[in-house]
Amino acid sequence: MSNAANVVYLNGQYLPVEEATVSVMDRGFLFGDGVYEVVPVFGNKLLRLEEHLTRLQNSLNRISLPNPYSHDEWLGIFSNLLEKNTGEDRAIYLQISRGVYAKRDLSIKAGYPPTVFAMVLQVEPPDLEVVSAGISVITVDDFRWGACDIKSTSLVANVMLRQQATEANVDDAILVKNGMLSEGTASNVFLVKNNVLITPPTGHKLLPGITRDLVIEIAKNNAILVEEREIREAELFSADEIWMTSSTREIAPVISLNDEIVATGVAGEMWKRVMGLYQQYK
Ligand SMILES: Cc1ncc(COP(=O)(O)O)c(C=O)c1O
Repeated sequence: MSNAANVVYLNGQYLPVEEATVSVMDRGFLFGDGVYEVVPVFGNKLLRLEEHLTRLQNSLNRISLPNPYSHDEWLGIFSNLLEKNTGEDRAIYLQISRGVYAKRDLSIKAGYPPTVFAMVLQVEPPDLEVVSAGISVITVDDFRWGACDIKSTSLVANVMLRQQATEANVDDAILVKNGMLSEGTASNVFLVKNNVLITPPTGHKLLPGITRDLVIEIAKNNAILVEEREIREAELFSADEIWMTSSTREIAPVISLNDEIVATGVAGEMWKRVMGLYQQYK
């Protein structure tokens, strides 16, 4: 994904990205003390906007940061940004940090305005042929904290985990905590076994992906069996299919795991079916 955004939103103003700056005392910069969202946009349609705003509210609640804007105020900002940054497939990136305090101090204090930033990301439309070629992944130890349901801007652990994948010359990593799958470095994970779609349950161990929920909804609406349950790492190696899902990646089939071919080594029949349904929904 490239960031071709020209005009961004910062604290009530629309500015060229080069002119949008924040203080070095911003708690987002000092502590990663903030949350974010990425909302995909197709044409001018914000995909699953309500769900994204609900997850944003949940993230804000979890870090005790009041939502600076109403639903309609957010919508107004998104519409203005999309008007100023035209394109086909895009995404809205937004982040809210706890703002600027005079002193570097972990304690939360009332009365400081948050820093609110939003921009448009230009997204490459997925080439289905390329996507169906699949991705390669490794399993890595998920050493992250016990609050992965917060879409926090403190992403250094995810950066480190992605780097393990990069150093292994693969596209991504599947994170494993105490022998159980959690998610990808920036995606959720699904297995297909005997025509059943299986994914780990939501909770503090993973981000409740909006794409994850949509895939589950689409599957259930089409009489595909879905199980939300803990998945042992060993189940990966006998899966018929493995997928990684996210708003920007959509549904990526995994064709190589720890240097071994997954099942037949090509995108599976269930993936073809659900990906087709997902594209229709979009
Ligand atoms: C850690 C993590 N898990 C899952 C997801 C997928 O979430 P969504 O489908 O809402 O994009 C993301 C997206 O960035 C993520 O960062």
